Amino acid sequence: MSFKIDWSVYEEMRQAEISAPEEYRAHPHWLDYEKKVVSVLKQKPDQVFSLEVDGVPGWVGGGSEHRVPWKHYERYLPFVRELDQLEILKRYPTFKSRQFLDAVAEINLLHQYAGLEDGKLILDLGGGYGRVAEFLLPLFKVSYVVVDAVALSLLVAPQYIAQALKIETNSFWGKKDPVFRNHAFSVWPTWKILDVLPQADIIMNIHSLQEMGDEKCEFYFNLIDQNKKEKARIFLKNNYRYVTRNWKFPKRWKALYQNDGWPCTEGLVDGVWQDEPRTWLKVFE
Ligand SMILES: C[S@@+](CC[C@H](N)C(=O)[O-])C[C@H]1O[C@@H](n2cnc3c(N)ncnc32)[C@H](O)[C@@H]1O
Repeated sequence: MSFKIDWSVYEEMRQAEISAPEEYRAHPHWLDYEKKVVSVLKQKPDQVFSLEVDGVPGWVGGGSEHRVPWKHYERYLPFVRELDQLEILKRYPTFKSRQFLDAVAEINLLHQYAGLEDGKLILDLGGGYGRVAEFLLPLFKVSYVVVDAVALSLLVAPQYIAQALKIETNSFWGKKDPVFRNHAFSVWPTWKILDVLPQADIIMNIHSLQEMGDEKCEFYFNLIDQNKKEKARIFLKNNYRYVTRNWKFPKRWKALYQNDGWPCTEGLVDGVWQDEPRTWLKVFE
């Protein structure tokens, strides 16, 4: 995929990112990482999604090269196949990446437990480049809004989805239309999350809260609790090690589904596949 980065828009976004109220800003390690990636991308913008660019991993979510065979594809496949009631695997027989397999499992679980169906408005907090939206939007007529704190994610996602799905996308730095139901895909910054949150039917977070400090997680849980629709569902999938830090979920959230048995999707530890579960998933109402 050929990718064009408008660096003047990026600088504007980066300024907004840096000057956002502290509670909406990304963790400092993200800001350093972003700086490093940007310096490489200024030379090689097309490599924004490569798995590795000069030692710097590809942008958020590990890259979108869905045809790149993942070393552990065959081991992970039976787990995903069992969940795949929507038969997404059959639609993309040549896609063999971890990013794709994760998305197939997640979309099926969103459908079974989080009320994913046509007409819903989805808020994906820390949605990266739109990894899940790429495979969800061809199946369901929904409005999908990525809300992210990092300028490079906010810049990349609307372009990636526009190119991958050949649709028009809405973004805070583009059309800037707050009527999210008019669009299949929108991207909005965290410091404007309240434009989206009260309308969302599904609020999801995948592998992003885990990277924030406990205080920020609590801040987001309370913000969601105080501003969500009464019957909104909350879909959280994060790394086991971080979740067991005792996240304080609002007391009135009722767990509808929990999966502690997700196989290792976090890669290898010391070069050895880890069979114990690494990912934790919970759906609340
Ligand atoms: C590991 S990536 C996961 C991306 C995506 N959820 C996925 O599964 O492909 C973490 C994401 O969190 C975003 N992020 C970092 N700090 C954040 C914050 N404080 N609030 C919201 N998003 C944040 C990053 O820009 C990035 O998109």
